[in-house]
Amino acid sequence: MIALSKENSAWVEEVVKKIEDKMAWVSEKSKDKIPYLTVNGTHDDRSATDREWNADDGLNWWTNGFWGGMLWMMYHATGNGRYAEIARISEEKMDTCFESYYGLHHDVGFMWRPTAAADYQLTGNPDSRRRALHAANLLAGRFNPVGRFIRAWNDIPGSKDDTRGWAIIDCMLNLSLLYWASEETNDPRFKQIAMMHADTAMKHFVRPDGSVNHIIEFNPETGEFVRAYGGQGYCEGSSWTRGQGWGVYGFMISYIHTGKQEYLDTAKKIAHYIMANIPDSGIIPVDFRQPAEPAWEDSCGACVIANGLIEIAKHVPELEQEMYLRAAVKILKAIDKTRADWSEACDSIVQNCTAAYHNKDHHFTMTYADFYFIEAVLKLKGNDVFMW
Ligand code: GLY
Repeated sequence: MIALSKENSAWVEEVVKKIEDKMAWVSEKSKDKIPYLTVNGTHDDRSATDREWNADDGLNWWTNGFWGGMLWMMYHATGNGRYAEIARISEEKMDTCFESYYGLHHDVGFMWRPTAAADYQLTGNPDSRRRALHAANLLAGRFNPVGRFIRAWNDIPGSKDDTRGWAIIDCMLNLSLLYWASEETNDPRFKQIAMMHADTAMKHFVRPDGSVNHIIEFNPETGEFVRAYGGQGYCEGSSWTRGQGWGVYGFMISYIHTGKQEYLDTAKKIAHYIMANIPDSGIIPVDFRQPAEPAWEDSCGACVIANGLIEIAKHVPELEQEMYLRAAVKILKAIDKTRADWSEACDSIVQNCTAAYHNKDHHFTMTYADFYFIEAVLKLKGNDVFMW
């Protein structure tokens, strides 16, 4: 249980109301889509049939579970069955990915944990259980037993990079699907794989100061550490903020499912580094070690970080909670007050997200920023559904 001040509780109530108002019309407007971002304020559609069937930015696009996940959160928070109906449209469309198989990656966790597994968790739908177990088996199949890590990406078209030995910090969230599968089937194999990956990540991704690497390359034959890459952050040795978020939230998720103390300690270590770097404005940059200019921001990373901090607060003694909650509320208030669009001019709520520091585009919307913003606010209210 977390305790908020009267002022913060009132603010949470106000934001929940704004989320409910916005999601009521956006869910209907985008009901046949699987959105990733907005173009001139309108959701795009990763399930559009004019996309290549196996394009990695189409139905296999790694963020495709967040839209359904948002709808399941709204279903749980409001009891309105219409959200469940709309969530199922995207869940059913994603069956094509299983049939095609090619192009699926470690993000099957992000894709099916907040959709099919959440559906089964909330409604007991047997088709959803089958989908989620299928996805968990695909994820388990990516485990490299010599290196004790889950392979992240497939070969990158047009790139000479050999990604067979690449693991990325983001995968800490994909582990949720494996924990869910073990809890659901009582078969420990999935959890064992998740814990072996988490142990490898603790050793190789988390630096002594609590910052994290984005990509680690292992030798796929021997499992030996080869090198780290800066990935979506500023450079090698820098500190991509969304990666910090995947780390802090991811290790908390592993702690929640296993009770292993080192995972909680690691989440706290990452959190302490993050809290020491949050700017006074509460606005989170793309990388904590980027130059002052250009001042690229990532509100999406901010929302992921907030979820990790709130989960820590929920799992430490009351005396320790305050600093984690204060940091999470500061970040979320900065989004609500300065980086949220509550109007009907834009289908997304959270603005100023960035996929990667060196990409051409910065400061756009991302469905998963909305997902993690909604999740964090509902956690503060105390009526979230934990789907990790
Ligand atoms: N998982 C990829 C990203 O956070 O952009």
